[in-house]
Amino acid sequence: MDNASLKPDQPVLQLVEISRSFTIKAGFLAEKKILRAVEDVSFQLMRGECLGLVGESGCGKSTLGRLCSGLLPPTSGQVLFLGRDLPEAGCGSWARGQIQMIFQDPFSSLNPRMTVGDSVAEPLLAQGVDAKVSQEQACAMLATVGLKDVERRYPHEFSGGQRQRIAVARALVTKPHIVICDEPVSALDASVQAQVLNLLCDMQEQFSPAYLFISHDLNVVGFMCQRILVMYLGRIVEAASRDAIFSDPRHPYTKALLAARGGKASTETILHGELPSPINQPLGCTFHPRCPKAVDICRQNLPPLKEVSPGWMVRCHLA
Ligand SMILES: Nc1ncnc2c1ncn2[C@@H]1O[C@H](COP(=O)(O)OP(=O)(O)OP(=O)(O)O)[C@@H](O)[C@H]1O
Ligand SMILES: [Mg+2]
Repeated sequence: MDNASLKPDQPVLQLVEISRSFTIKAGFLAEKKILRAVEDVSFQLMRGECLGLVGESGCGKSTLGRLCSGLLPPTSGQVLFLGRDLPEAGCGSWARGQIQMIFQDPFSSLNPRMTVGDSVAEPLLAQGVDAKVSQEQACAMLATVGLKDVERRYPHEFSGGQRQRIAVARALVTKPHIVICDEPVSALDASVQAQVLNLLCDMQEQFSPAYLFISHDLNVVGFMCQRILVMYLGRIVEAASRDAIFSDPRHPYTKALLAARGGKASTETILHGELPSPINQPLGCTFHPRCPKAVDICRQNLPPLKEVSPGWMVRCHLA
């Protein structure tokens, strides 16, 4: 089934109450602790949309991205790809090549010993496409991302922006349903960032993949995404359209992220302190120790994620 034959209102990916924790042991004699990286996350990724995932460093964005791609199994909950359970590692025969990832650092995601032609052809070979056809399609995809006659060269011969173009070609060469973009421009200079973002938009127009677009930068997410999920300590605290988030944010954490957006003050300054450890999460609303509006109930009960208007969810007692 290609992207064009999916109904517009059919989610390509659905997460149902997904949680993921890690068991941590700091030293040989240290006791084991549970780190809750992702807690009770549910959402749908619709065909061809660009869904943003934003939040501070360490809030669980990459873990959620890996859960969506099948690279990491959940501790509990369900990941449905086209309505069916996602096979582990995303590589069960029917899902192979259908969910691809683009990472922050293309230098570590591209094998330095492989020519870029071979790197881009690799996902096709994994799908069982014939070697010659894979090479031809890889060259064509490299040309589509603006890199002609480069297939025999190696990653170190390219600039950061060009390497990220190669990573985009590799992610899109199988015409996947979903591309998880995990901070794809965070390591690039501002001028190059815009080029890579525009390339991702062009690729979406041509091949209609849905993007889960992960970034700590609300400006970048605002440029790319129609819908935004705001994450705090592993939980979704606000989910709404970009326009809603930018014009009338309801969660105090979203407000702080917006206030920090101009770059004059960091989220830590605005919120007085850093993200608490996901090992010792605060009781009640996990945001209450940093919340300027917190009242008694916030210290006692975790607020549910409730719908404040159609398609707009907020996890706050006061919203
Ligand atoms: N394999 C792992 N083992 C133990 N802890 C992990 C593992 N992967 C992630 N974590 C922890 O889970 C939490 C969330 O990490 P994650 O990388 O998902 O955050 P992030 O939002 O992507 O951060 P950043 O913006 O810095 O990339 C962190 O506290 C991290 O230390
Ligand atoms: Mg990350």
